[in-house]
Parts: sequence; C-alpha cells; structure tokens
Amino acid sequence: MSPLPSPKFKNPRAKYNFRGRTCSIAGVGAYVPSRILTNADLEKMVNTSDEWITSRTGIKERHLAAEDEFTSDLAAKAALKAMAQAGVTAEEIDLIVVATITPDMPFPSTAALVQRKIGARRAAAFDLEAACAGFIYALEVAQQFIMSRTYDTVLVIGAEKLSSIVDWQDRNTCVLFGDGAGAAILRNRPNAHGLLTAVMGADGTKSDLLFMAGGGSRCPASEESVANRMHFLRMEGKETFKCAVQAMQTAAKEALRRCELDISRIKLIIPHQANLRIIDAVAERLGAKPEQVFVNLHKFGNTSAASVAIALDEAVNSGRVQAGDLLLLIVFGAGLTWGAAVIEW
Ligand SMILES: CC(C)(COP(=O)(O)OP(=O)(O)OC[C@H]1O[C@@H](n2cnc3c(N)ncnc32)[C@H](O)[C@@H]1OP(=O)(O)O)[C@@H](O)C(=O)NCCC(=O)NCCS
Repeated sequence: MSPLPSPKFKNPRAKYNFRGRTCSIAGVGAYVPSRILTNADLEKMVNTSDEWITSRTGIKERHLAAEDEFTSDLAAKAALKAMAQAGVTAEEIDLIVVATITPDMPFPSTAALVQRKIGARRAAAFDLEAACAGFIYALEVAQQFIMSRTYDTVLVIGAEKLSSIVDWQDRNTCVLFGDGAGAAILRNRPNAHGLLTAVMGADGTKSDLLFMAGGGSRCPASEESVANRMHFLRMEGKETFKCAVQAMQTAAKEALRRCELDISRIKLIIPHQANLRIIDAVAERLGAKPEQVFVNLHKFGNTSAASVAIALDEAVNSGRVQAGDLLLLIVFGAGLTWGAAVIEW
C-alpha cells in the first residue's frame, strides 16, 4: 500500500494521534422563573380541573417567565450556577450549545445571547433544535468536542420559555407546559468514564403529532397566520403518548445494551418530565423499581429541552446522586425525536 500523500494542510488533531478521551459532567445548574401557575389558576382560564390535570398528567404547578424574561435569561442563570459548581470561569468556556424550541428570536442564536450575558467571550456558540429530546442531543454533540480534544470546556444548556408558544385557550395543551432552564459543564475528568453512551433517534414521518406551524419559512407571520393561531404549538396527545412510551423504552434498552448493563445497576433513571403516566409505563417496561425513578414534573410541568436538565440538577443537588453512580437519562419530543444516555457520575 502506498503511503498517504503529504497533506497540503495541517491537521490539528493529528498531533493527538486521534486518541479520544472521556467526557464528564463537571457541574450542573438550573433556574426556573419565580411566578407559579397552579392547576387552580388554570381552572379560571380554561374548562379544566385540578383533578383532571393531576390524574392524567401528575402535574400540579409550573413556573412561567415574566414578560421581560426570555429564554436566554433563564439559560444564563442556569449556566452561571453550573459554572460555579464546576469551578469554571466564563473565560474558560470554549463552546456553548443551547437546546431550545423557544429561542429569543429566530436569529441570532440564543447561545450567542447567553455568551454575551455570561461574558464567555472566547466561546463559540450555537443552538440545537431537537425539541424535548434536545438536552441529550446537545450532550452527545458537545461531548464529541471533548472526546476529540478540540475543546476542553463545553457549556450545554436546555432552556425554554414555552409559555410564549402555548395557546392559553387550548385546554388540551396549556395545562402541560412550563418555563425553565438547566445547564451542565462538560469536561474531561481523568480516570472517569462520564458519559458512557448516548442513543439518539428520530422519526420525521410523525412530525405532524406535535408542531408549531407558524413563523418559519413555510408559513411566515401574517395576519392570517395569527388569526388562525398558527404561532402556538399543537399536539395529538393520545398518539404522542403511545409513541413516547415506545421510543423511550427502546432507546433506554439500547443504551443499557451498549454498556452491558442490567437496569438493576442504574442508581437513578431521569426521564423526560412530560407525563407521570408515560414515566410509569416506561419504568415498568424497563423493570425499574419506583425508587430508581426521578420525578419532579408535579412542580414544573413539561419544560421540553430543559426538562431532564432541571431534573438532573435537582437529583444531584439534593444528594440523590453520588460519585460513581450510574444514571440513565431518557428523552422524547417533537420530530419525533428521542434519546437515552448512560452516565457514570
Ligand atoms: C395530553 C394528555 C395528558 C391527554 O390525556 P389522555 O388521557 O390522552 O386524554 P384524551 O386526549 O383522551 O382526552 C380525554 C378527554 O379529556 C378532555 N381534556 C383534554 N384536556 C383537558 C383538560 N385540560 N381538562 C379537562 N379535560 C381535558 C379531552 O377533550 C377529552 O374529552 P372528550 O373525551 O370529551 O373528547 C396525554 O395524551 C398526554 O400526556 N400525551 C402526551 C403528551 C406529551 O408527552 N407531550 C409532549 C411530548 S414531549
């Protein structure tokens, strides 16, 4: 075999001999806005009841951002907490990835706005859109930069102001969602496995189950689009529910298979917090015990890309996770998209 011709460029990675390195979560943080909307409040807004919402979803209340509080504000506050926990300064951050379906505006990216707000002037910044599956997608994308030694410190954020796209006249959806942000600092920790694997999947043939039609290139804002309430999210609840249970359990089993792990080895399962009945159904199919499953949706509702990130922060900072514990994160969202990640803490 003839040797490769001398390249006419420098390959920066070649000096590392293409050896990968592991990626750990060095710190987490979360922020939810102070205003709380309870089920009792919703009873005054649409034809619903606390009993219906609690029994069908498990949600009791959700936090809503103020009018002058945007996704980038929530994201920056969560980021600063994650940075403090990791002992990382803004100057040290190489890359910011924000997973969101409610960016402050179509462009520039919310990640760029966060970069300015936290003063991470060295950092590259971009958004990633995988709906409620966004945080695991972002973790998986971001960890490539650590593994390849391209970057040392990456800030991953899931952040949403879903209240800005919820139709407050539609009882089928408005009871389900909330605002908030969760963040993680990714770094190599020598002699730690960190993020062991992340499964990602999608099924675009079911994109009509959960979507927002207005505001994009297909249906730019117009008097008609506003009149037809096309700038609000729409969901086919029953079918989405079935797909969520199926996709989440399949992704979780694949992640466990890759790591040759039995579910009994997982200290804590942190699923997407959309509906308690979805979480229970997935846990049952995985053969998990109730004490292995982390639930906080009664306080926050479904915060989409922020959901698992906020839950991870609470699990870690309430002492439910210790160094060396194995965690299983599972997500599902519009697209459809889904994912599962196994992390050694
Ligand atoms: C939305 C969801 C809670 C609805 O629960 P469900 O058991 O499927 O309820 P249904 O859709 O069958 O609705 C049952 C009835 O309750 C009514 N209903 C819907 N929302 C209601 C509300 N907030 N209050 C009272 N009644 C309500 C419906 O109109 C329907 O009435 P009908 O039988 O007279 O038509 C459930 O389907 C779900 O959680 N889906 C997945 C959502 C999700 O995870 N989305 C995000 C993925 S990231």
